[in-house]
Amino acid sequence: MYFSKITATGAYVPESVITNDDLSKIVDTNDEWIVSRSGIRNRHFAVAEDENTSDIAAKACKMIIERSNISPEEIDLLIVATVSADYSTPSTACLVQAKVGAKNAIAFDIGAACSGFIFGLSIANKYIQAGTVKNVVVIGAEVLSKYLDFTDRGTCVLFGDGAAGVLLQRSQKRGIIAEEIGSDGSKGHALTGGDTPVKNAFSKCDGKANRSLKMDGRAIFDFATRQVPKSVESLLKKSETDRDTIDFVIAHQANSRIVQIISKKLKIPMEKFYLNMYEYGNTSSASIPIALNEMMEKGLIKEDSLGLLTGFGAGLTWGSMLIRF
Ligand code: COA
Repeated sequence: MYFSKITATGAYVPESVITNDDLSKIVDTNDEWIVSRSGIRNRHFAVAEDENTSDIAAKACKMIIERSNISPEEIDLLIVATVSADYSTPSTACLVQAKVGAKNAIAFDIGAACSGFIFGLSIANKYIQAGTVKNVVVIGAEVLSKYLDFTDRGTCVLFGDGAAGVLLQRSQKRGIIAEEIGSDGSKGHALTGGDTPVKNAFSKCDGKANRSLKMDGRAIFDFATRQVPKSVESLLKKSETDRDTIDFVIAHQANSRIVQIISKKLKIPMEKFYLNMYEYGNTSSASIPIALNEMMEKGLIKEDSLGLLTGFGAGLTWGSMLIRF
């Protein structure tokens, strides 16, 4: 039986910081509203041509490799979770593969929005368990600012850009302990973006696309505060884990009010939840690994720490994972 363990992390976030006050100059909003409803103060936006999703993902990937015991050629599998790829094809993962020289990797993208990093880890873990690969890089990367409607104050204040990921390696020790993931496509209309309607030389449709993110904020709020506790409870039960043994929790950094409700419902104290949405906003698939990398850099994760990672978002999708570090 093969096990998987996270052995290195890395992140890259564009330098350009956009504050709530910056946004209030272009849309009818204010710092007080954004902070009190979401906990977000800043977000980083890609502003240069060389800061597209594959560029920032490649920078995060290079950091992961530098901090690891492997060369780029030793990466067997490279998964990028994203909903804001540079192109429909080639995949962001293939672009990253070329940029970092991971010439022996199988490379592909997955789209599970804000749960994407957890879905990616789940796939990587199964490849490792099957014995077909040893070294997998999983990255969550988004340039969501490409999809924001800066006249829609209900969405444009919430999201940000960034990339981060991990090296997951075959190990003697069980790192990934258990997972609980799922999807409910029947509620997918609550959060959509990047429409590409039918359009060709023979079509009768107008083909007009609205690429912007559109969201029923209340529906997403209700979904997250209902589904995440349910998913975590099921995870704890099936892995026979006592919640008090969890050392830290990284929940998707969408909204501090959502995290507070999750903490209360799960009876896991807020002190165990790492929060950094105040600096990055909601970076979708990048949010959990950005937080994980930050905790690693701050020395907040010790050998043998037990972490709970939990994501939720468009699809609708959700995913929770217990990981021993
Ligand atoms: N600045 C100022 N006012 C704003 C605003 C903004 N950026 N966005 C909305 N408002 C206004 C609304 O127009 C509304 O005004 P009205 O009462 O005059 O109509 C008022 O604030 C309340 O809007 P409402 O949508 O009811 O606020 P809310 O308390 O539900 O908070 C969200 C809105 C989006 C912050 C909240 O629903 C949420 O966090 N949802 C989850 C979103 C999320 O996490 N998405 C990603 C998941 S991966």
